[in-house]
Amino acid sequence: MDTAAIYAHFAESQALNGGSPIYQDWARGVAADPEVCALLDGLPEPKRQPNLLFAAARLVGAPSDGWASVRPWLLAAWPDVERTMRTHATQTNEPRRCATLLPTLAAIDGPIALIEVGASAGLCLYPDRYSYVYTAPDGARTRLDPAGGPSEVLLPCAIEGPVPTRMPEIVWRAGLDLNPLDVRDPADLAWLEALVWPEHTDRIETLRAAARVVAAAPPRLVTGDLLEVLPDLVADAPADATVVVLHSAVLVYLTAADKAAFAATMADLRRARGAVWLSNEGWTVLPDVAARLPEGLSPQFILARDGEPVALTDPHGRSVRLL
Ligand SMILES: C[S@@+](CC[C@H](N)C(=O)[O-])C[C@H]1O[C@@H](n2cnc3c(N)ncnc32)[C@H](O)[C@@H]1O
Repeated sequence: MDTAAIYAHFAESQALNGGSPIYQDWARGVAADPEVCALLDGLPEPKRQPNLLFAAARLVGAPSDGWASVRPWLLAAWPDVERTMRTHATQTNEPRRCATLLPTLAAIDGPIALIEVGASAGLCLYPDRYSYVYTAPDGARTRLDPAGGPSEVLLPCAIEGPVPTRMPEIVWRAGLDLNPLDVRDPADLAWLEALVWPEHTDRIETLRAAARVVAAAPPRLVTGDLLEVLPDLVADAPADATVVVLHSAVLVYLTAADKAAFAATMADLRRARGAVWLSNEGWTVLPDVAARLPEGLSPQFILARDGEPVALTDPHGRSVRLL
């Protein structure tokens, strides 16, 4: 796909429920703008993506206006925006995804050693430190708090299926990422905030609160490729704990061959260590998982345990439908 087509496609995707009208307008503008597309074409292909351009532009100071006023701003600020795009990557860390993972995690008997692959800043490594309010289809609400009392992070989530009644017993946690972010570093936190779509102000509040929880007890985050460093991290987990390897919105960045290699690594870790594999990815990302879904479902994300779909989840953690 050429750059104009990528932006036109992105604009269409923003028309879906929960997208960003501002980004839709900007993406339409870029798609119809050969001068801006030519600037983007000067970047390596993975760096041309809309989420990276728009987050970089906002980090540099783009106004949250229509494309007509953003375009001249962008042309003037292009050297700074381009530098930011070259030095940053899309690493959106969405703690709300914990609400969609919790029912499945809580069903695993502890103690659990939780390892997140592609952890970004590690905000999804703390599902047991956040509070939840689940709303069933009939409107019934159930609240779940950490053992130590209510958390300042309160995650609302619509649920279809059994509501969790306990927290997972997580006794050890660690993550890995090509480029771990540190919530205690103001520059990293500013980047995480810029990655949240502009209208999603409630997500920013949740992000900041989760960052405070994580900063109070920072996780171990290892720098490296998931195909290389995962076995060593698993080997460090306490021997008496069930290892749960989790990833969400990560494998989309891998080639088909690398996804197959990762699935083989998980099969080895399952045999050798009894590791549980929880994948929460867009429904096209793991075709073998999608093929196991009952007919007629059109999910956005699929949560799978050891390759078997167990839930359909909203990409930003707003809803979960247990299968
Ligand atoms: C969109 S973020 C998702 C972060 C987090 N899992 C969440 O759900 O909020 C994807 C993360 O995966 C990381 N990543 C992508 N490819 C990777 C690889 N091959 N090895 C390790 N991390 C990777 C990126 O650096 C980024 O931080």
